[in-house]
Amino acid sequence: MRLDVVTIFPEYLEPLNVSLVGKARARGVLDVRVHDLRTWTHDRHNTVDDTPYGGGPGMVMKPEPWGEALDEVLATGEPEGPDQEPPVLVVPTPSGRPFTQELAVELADKPWLVFTPARYEGIDRRVIEEYADRLDVREVSIGDYVLAGGEAPVLVMVEAIARLLPGVLGNAASHQDDSFAPGTMANLLEGPVYTKPPEWRGRGIPEVLLSGHHGRIARWRRDQAFARTAANRPDLIERCDPEALDKHDRATLEGLGWRQGTDGRWHPAE
Ligand code: ADE
Repeated sequence: MRLDVVTIFPEYLEPLNVSLVGKARARGVLDVRVHDLRTWTHDRHNTVDDTPYGGGPGMVMKPEPWGEALDEVLATGEPEGPDQEPPVLVVPTPSGRPFTQELAVELADKPWLVFTPARYEGIDRRVIEEYADRLDVREVSIGDYVLAGGEAPVLVMVEAIARLLPGVLGNAASHQDDSFAPGTMANLLEGPVYTKPPEWRGRGIPEVLLSGHHGRIARWRRDQAFARTAANRPDLIERCDPEALDKHDRATLEGLGWRQGTDGRWHPAE
């Protein structure tokens, strides 16, 4: 997979050299190219921003450097490489669609992604419109809070995407039971995990995990997942498909104080 990032803070993307993403780059699974937006400015001060039309606080990123930068990056697509088709343009913005595990899975399947992290109040709208005519453009938010720029969101998204690529995680099964992974545990958070030693500061390990009984362990993990989801993300339980719950799941939820409503959905009991 090829990833390009255009930013005024290339050094902010240094963590892409470290750990999982760094190793994926070293192994050639990921081709990451970070570009300094100021390369495409032509004035003495390398200006990338200006005051907003219509007034208001803050500054807006000028369209010209972004246009030149993106045209040049797009022109480097090689006919034989992963970049033979136009990339998906990922624009981090608090006004975007939520970044979810589902979107990470979708983007992990694309051969080429270009990220445009902005500073200030964002990028002149015409840039998005210009490229939306030619590319699949996704405006994406990593959460309901406002950061000073899109670089940290790029790090978040790249890590979530990279760990899904074949050969990046040591154990291919290890993202199958991720919280939010599509499939068996969908809509449930992962429960607690334990490792050696068997006793630490007087605290032991839940007996069932030492039993070697795979069926009982799987059941216990699912019960724990329900307990944690009900406590931390009740919205996920309320949204879950009641048909996906077996008899034991329903008993677990009832034990946690939940009831099935007339709409079939589960709700916390009054
Ligand atoms: N830029 C600033 N805040 C952001 C957010 N929450 N998500 C994506 N990009 C952003």
